[in-house]
Formats: sequence, structure tokens, C-alpha cells
Amino acid sequence: MRKIILTGDRPTGRLHLGHYVGSLKRRVELQNSGEYDEIYIMIADAQALTDNMENPEKVRQNIIEVALDYLSCGLDPEKSVMFIQSQIPELCEMSFYYMNLVTVARLKRNPTVKTEIQMRNFEERIPVGFFTYPISQAADITAFKATTVPVGEDQAPMIEQTREIVHRFNYVYGETLIEPSILLPDNQACMRLPGTDGKAKMSKSLGNCIYLSDSAEEVKKKVMSMYTDPTHLKVEDPGHLEGNTVFTYLDAFSTDEHFAKYLPEYKNLDELKAHYTKGGLGDVKVKRFLNNVLEEVLQPIRQRRAEFEKDIPSVYKMLEEGSKIAEAKAKKTLAEMKNAMRINYFEDKELIQNQSKKFSEQ
Ligand code: TRP
Repeated sequence: MRKIILTGDRPTGRLHLGHYVGSLKRRVELQNSGEYDEIYIMIADAQALTDNMENPEKVRQNIIEVALDYLSCGLDPEKSVMFIQSQIPELCEMSFYYMNLVTVARLKRNPTVKTEIQMRNFEERIPVGFFTYPISQAADITAFKATTVPVGEDQAPMIEQTREIVHRFNYVYGETLIEPSILLPDNQACMRLPGTDGKAKMSKSLGNCIYLSDSAEEVKKKVMSMYTDPTHLKVEDPGHLEGNTVFTYLDAFSTDEHFAKYLPEYKNLDELKAHYTKGGLGDVKVKRFLNNVLEEVLQPIRQRRAEFEKDIPSVYKMLEEGSKIAEAKAKKTLAEMKNAMRINYFEDKELIQNQSKKFSEQ
């Protein structure tokens, strides 16, 4: 069986370090591993509209930002098809048929949808489009016959729902679709990078993100004002690692080579942690080190971004070409689905023949 990846992001803002450790870095590794036959990376603008319907301009403006973030992280259009969801009408058509295979009760139980409904205070006024977005996400995945969906753990219920839809479709109409597997981030610290203020998640509305497109000065300012251990007042005080954002980031990013290069008095992160917990190590020193570590990651990304920003029309062209390739694939899958569902009237010569026979015999 061909190994196929599909994943994507809602274009509601520039991508940040949380996206990088949680997904972008991995995607680039998967892309370059050469293990996958096809890779699709989708900018999920239609899904973004399910809770931004009054704000289409925000979605529109962020498509190029996300595409630039993709390219600057190393996604390569020669190896990964990058495309825009709304440009593939077949996805809507598939969603419409999948709606017959899912109950309202099942959608209500989807834990991600449940929390999101609470977060957005929809209460009784949930837009149907929002409520049913897991179904549309199943279309995104199955249209490409994806075997592997690299996403964060918050997306697990979506993949589960997709598997159920596939199962049901194949059971009712015959083997047609592929059941995808989730591919979770491999490092625990990467599962969810906290915001610079120590809050659980980087979020634009909280203003606690380090963006991939931030300048070196912006990053430094954010790092130096990061949340650490509020009880660690004097250098001599013993410090705590639990909930200490600076150390969470070091867990996610630092390597022994970084220590050799920037902080050679420690061999590795364990030694630094031991000193911090014992007391006698100030936050500023740890933060300066973190800033150096982050710059190693961010500088090449920033440089590549600057290059791509010089030719914006060709970035749109890349997305347009990607969307054409994606549509061709989705079209093929949809034709197979319609065949299985017996709604392929004009392609089915036998149907026309048999019907003619039936009526001529009457
Ligand atoms: N729901 C994903 C998010 O919010 C975006 C997305 C849409 C997606 N369709 C997808 C992810 C299909 C993986 C596969 O980040």
C-alpha cells in the first residue's frame, strides 16, 4: 500500500514555536525521510471559516503567512503538495455524503468539538458548519487516501471520527476508502509547548507566542521576560523546574551540542537543572542560553522566509499548482466513492443498457 501523508493548519495567524515543535519540524523530517509516496499539506481555510465566518479577511490575509512559514521551515513543493482547502470543491461533496454516516449524538460526544464549543461560548447557537467540521476533516483526510496523519493529540478525536466514517462507508458501500492512522509528536515536551507567560498553550489572543517570523530582537525580548519560578527570587534560592517555562523550552529545544557551544560549564541539561534546583543559578543566565538555542532554530527559518518574501507571486503560484494536483487526486477518490455509492449514472454504461432493455420489454 502506498504511504500517504495528509495534514494541515487553519490559517488564522502566523505560525509559532508551538506549531514548530508540535508539527512543522516533524513534517519536514517526514518529508525528507523519503519514506512517503505522497505528502499533502493543506491550508484549511474552509475549516477556519467555520468559526470565523464574519471575518473572512483574517483568513485571506493569513494564507500567505502560513505558506511562507511552511516554506521557511523547509517544506519543499517538489516533495510536498501544499494547497488551499477551499479550492478543492470535491471535499464539500464528500462531506455531504459522509453526513449520512454520522449521528448528531456522535458529533456531540467528540471531545475536541465539545471543548471548542465551550471555549467559543456558542451554547445553543452552534453554527452547523462548525458542529460538523469533524466530518469535513474526514473528507480532507480520505480524499487523499491518507494512511498517516501527523497531528497533535488534540486532533486524535478527529482521526478517530474519520476512521469510523471510513469503516462505515466501506461496510455500507464496499471497500473504497483507507483508514488513516494518527502520528503523534515523538517528544513529550513537544506535545504542547506552553506560552511564554507559562499558560498552558501558545495562543495569539493571550499574546504569549514566539512567532517563526519574529525578529531576533523580538525573540530576545520575549525570552528575557519569560515566566520562570516565582519563588526563585535571589540567585542563591533553590529553583523549581515544575511549570518553569524556560526549562520546558530547553527540554524541547536544547541539545548537548548547544551546551558545548554556549554554556560549556555544563555538559547537558541535567547538570543545568541540578544546579538550578540546588540554588545559585540565576534566571537571566538560563534565559540567555535559551535565547541562543532558539536563535539556532529560528535564524535559518527567518533567513529563508526573507528570501521567499521577495517573490510573493511565486508563493501563490506554488499554492495554485499544489491545489491543482490536490484536486486531481480528490476527483479520482470521489469518482471511486460515487461508483461504490451507485450514483455514477452517466459513467455506468451497463445501467443505461439495462434500463433501456427494461423499458423496451414493457
Ligand atoms: N483541525 C486542524 C487544526 O485545527 C486543521 C485540519 C483541517 C487538519 N483538516 C485537517 C489537520 C486534516 C489534519 C488533517 O489544526
